[in-house]
Amino acid sequence: MKKINIAIDGYSSCGKGTLAKQLAKQLGYKFIDSGAMYRAVTWYLLEHNIPVEDESEVAVVLPKIDIDFEINPSSGRSDVLVNGLNIEPQIRTMRVAEAVSQVAKLSSVRRYLVELQKQMGIAKGVVMDGRDIGTVVFPDAELKIFMTATPEIRAQRRFEELNCSGVDTSYTEVLKNLQSRDFIDSSREDSPLTLTTAYTVLDNSGLSQDEQFALAMKWVETAIGA
Ligand code: DC
Repeated sequence: MKKINIAIDGYSSCGKGTLAKQLAKQLGYKFIDSGAMYRAVTWYLLEHNIPVEDESEVAVVLPKIDIDFEINPSSGRSDVLVNGLNIEPQIRTMRVAEAVSQVAKLSSVRRYLVELQKQMGIAKGVVMDGRDIGTVVFPDAELKIFMTATPEIRAQRRFEELNCSGVDTSYTEVLKNLQSRDFIDSSREDSPLTLTTAYTVLDNSGLSQDEQFALAMKWVETAIGA
């Protein structure tokens, strides 16, 4: 059967990763969380005390940041590695969440990661989620989904996730972080999150995971021509 690339873009904490993983599993495709790559660069910069707003310093260290993914046998999920070190738990902390949008604004960081992401999609059969996947990384993706939900619903879901994984935070803090990231992600100069007519919009405010998966699979079948 014809292999395609699927781009899933949208605001923070819309469940893009959940849908992307389900689609990848069903289709036997590779799932790539592009946000994890921006988080990995952010983690590296914080670890090495490199000021995230100093683009010239950041650009110098980028080639030293080797990013890869590996399947975690206990969770079945793919974890991010930096220079061979599994830093999946570290990139999900509020410390990284608070700095990552600043880092994702830097053109040198975007160029570096977009190039890696494009390489990952050459052979097709990839589901990648992020903010600029359908516009910049895979402009030729056969299916582009734009996910959204109300900020309050997204913050509540994210708060519960963080709570379950033992992160000490409040709903208000999560909502504030999410709104600030939405603003930075959609107003930055380089590759802002933009809804174009090439996307199929999926507002999951009132949908269960099963319902959104069924809907997306219909779009996949149409895109594949099955
Ligand atoms: O999807 P996420 O919340 O893990 O993404 C982390 C940050 O990285 C988010 O603030 C937006 C940015 N990002 C981006 O600019 N481009 C992408 N393709 C993916 C994420």
